[in-house]
Amino acid sequence: MSTETSALDFVVTPAAHRMAPEDRQRLLADPGFGRLFTEHMVRIDWNRDRGWHGAELRPYSPLQLDPAVSVLHYAQAVFEGLKAFRQPDGGISAFRPDSHAARFRRSARRLALPELPESIFIEAIDRLMSIDGEWVPSAPEHSLYLRPFMFASEVGLGVRPSSKVTFLLIGSPSGSYFPSGVKPVTVWLSEDFSRAAPGGTGEAKTGGNYAGGLLAQAQAAEQGCDQVVWLDSQEHRWVEEMGGMNLCFVFGSGQKARLMTPALTGTLLPGITRDALLKLAVDLGYQAEEGRISTEEWRAGCADGSLTEVFACGTAAVITPVGSVKSARGSWTVGDGKPGEVTMRLRQSLVDIQRGAAPDPHEWMHPVGRIA
Ligand code: PLP
Ligand code: COI
Repeated sequence: MSTETSALDFVVTPAAHRMAPEDRQRLLADPGFGRLFTEHMVRIDWNRDRGWHGAELRPYSPLQLDPAVSVLHYAQAVFEGLKAFRQPDGGISAFRPDSHAARFRRSARRLALPELPESIFIEAIDRLMSIDGEWVPSAPEHSLYLRPFMFASEVGLGVRPSSKVTFLLIGSPSGSYFPSGVKPVTVWLSEDFSRAAPGGTGEAKTGGNYAGGLLAQAQAAEQGCDQVVWLDSQEHRWVEEMGGMNLCFVFGSGQKARLMTPALTGTLLPGITRDALLKLAVDLGYQAEEGRISTEEWRAGCADGSLTEVFACGTAAVITPVGSVKSARGSWTVGDGKPGEVTMRLRQSLVDIQRGAAPDPHEWMHPVGRIA
């Protein structure tokens, strides 16, 4: 499968009619999550003979698909999610687009899809932002969520890696993922279902992982919980992650606090926010490590006070405190059920870097959209 392609020629077709600035501002005032989209999208095709070709920046529009297109039957598809933030000088910067591009390649490899070169992934973002930059909100907690994805577009019902693939990039102005903002969430420990097993697709960002989790998510909602927590598939005992976020555990308090996040065993998504927080925690003077924690240890740590805070982290969720836990075998509260000090300090440090309000020592922010 070809992985390298020289720079692509982009055909640029601007939308014939653009939204009036006052209408856009009205929409941006309360964007919600993932329900508004900008006016353009990027499309790039791939086939086995030509590799990546036909790059286009074009008006956002529905796709026309043959009913026998492979992705609709066998789910050969991967996606990414990253954010672009308005900067104090009016420019736009994306958070770690290089890391998202690298994960997109790894996910593609696992799903037997062609790997999009990282330079093209980033050029796609640059192109979209050069035309739809006005859609990047500036309000606190608001940003532009970028959704690159690719899918098997060969027509036919044979089960094999598709010889044709379509890459698309769309952008969605977004506010908080949880309607309640940074209010602590309640989580449900799923002991009936598994998200991923060793050797499966758990560490790839592929739609099937999410489809397979929806029933457990519905069960969590029936229990009055916001999110499902996934446990390991063999013992249903070791904590892995949440529906669309990684989990971090804080032991102790003040400058002696220690951050622990479940290690990457191959069954959980290697979150880019998770990786950033392991570094930021050290910058803030905390200990930070990857480890493992069972549900019994989670409960006992909250009972004896050694486990002081738990939070979820991810691109969409940023950092969201976990206030209480429910399972078929009982419920408990984390700390006093309110956002913890370490959680909120880490959150502020991350958000300050993303919004250009603090120095960026790890060079995570990349200016985008400066294509003439
Ligand atoms: N785990 C899952 C299952 C996710 O969908 C996400 C979101 O992308 C994450 C973790 C967090 O990853 P990231 O911080 O790269 O957004
Ligand atoms: C993200 O944080 O980017 C996610 O993918 C989570 C969810 C919206 C699927």
